[in-house]
Amino acid sequence: MSYVRDNIERMRSYVPGEQPKVPGLIKLNTNENPYPPSPKVLEALRAALDERLRLYPDPQATAFREKLAARYGFAAEQFIAGNGCDDILNLCVRAFCGQGERLAYFWPSYSLYPVLADIQGAVKVELPLDANFQFEAHPSLLRQLGGVKLVFITQPNAPSGVWLQKVELQRVIEETDGVVVIDEAYVDFAADDCLDFAREYDNVLVARSFSKSFALAGMRLGWAVGPRTLIAALDKVKDSYNVNRLTQIAGEAALDDWAYLEEITRKVKATRARVIGRLEEWKFGVLPSQTNFVFAKPPAPLTAKEWFDRLREQKILVRWWDADRIRDFCRVSIGTEEEMDKFLAATKEVGSVVA
Ligand SMILES: Cc1ncc(COP(=O)(O)O)c(C=O)c1O
Repeated sequence: MSYVRDNIERMRSYVPGEQPKVPGLIKLNTNENPYPPSPKVLEALRAALDERLRLYPDPQATAFREKLAARYGFAAEQFIAGNGCDDILNLCVRAFCGQGERLAYFWPSYSLYPVLADIQGAVKVELPLDANFQFEAHPSLLRQLGGVKLVFITQPNAPSGVWLQKVELQRVIEETDGVVVIDEAYVDFAADDCLDFAREYDNVLVARSFSKSFALAGMRLGWAVGPRTLIAALDKVKDSYNVNRLTQIAGEAALDDWAYLEEITRKVKATRARVIGRLEEWKFGVLPSQTNFVFAKPPAPLTAKEWFDRLREQKILVRWWDADRIRDFCRVSIGTEEEMDKFLAATKEVGSVVA
């Protein structure tokens, strides 16, 4: 006899990218920012390390939400803060999609969505992306949205890095009776966003993360914005104190230093363009990236797995999945200029060894 719920017994858990403690490792596998957080964030955190830690944090993260409101032009009540964007995604499943109900997501996309569906015992509906990893709202796909309670869309998509056409997403929003969550974890590296959908539609939430562009993956901070009724529902199911005191302070300070965000984002995008250019010269198939990573397919006879293994031998860690649709690619996070020089040199060597 097992004490564990059937669906938990049967499900496969989410596999996060490795965090090995190997000296000298170049870590390009989990899309962390290669640059440190804003010095103003570190200063604010140091100043907060005192006896106030005995007190619970503000359950509503009020000051943080007010800063988000001022920055993005919504009311503060339209925001909820989370312990990372993952917390927000989890809250959405708990609030909007019950056991046995339908939860849809594009495929391939963020591999946490099916895991959250399995935990809830929801029915998974995969909406396949086309050969270019774009979504086209064909009637056959839109029909699958019937009865769907929750749709997750990653924009720009991960792991492909591709920006999805907004008109096609709009079809999904209009065709579903459920809630559409647009997961914009990487959007600060893109040329556009979908905040207008959260303003216009009563069934759209946009979720964001401080882990990537703000270089705060270790603090765990995310948020969602959208219609008040949806935000109020998320607020009911969240842990009372889901964002700790220090993280709230870090988030506020990060929002106060917008120039720093712009500076490190610009650097990552410039490095991204350089890396894509070089890989394309070497005949890698690189998808157009609007994120802080590139998704690239090596030229035959080099396989993605060989590329991944050879880089790893040289202490360069990228991400490879043995999964349909994506096993021919590696996902490479954009590191510093120096890290990417080493990555490119190692790739060049691997290419010529195999050729
Ligand atoms: C698409 C997507 N959404 C959300 C997250 C999680 O973000 P956070 O670190 O804020 O929980 C990730 C992290 O890799 C991601 O790739």
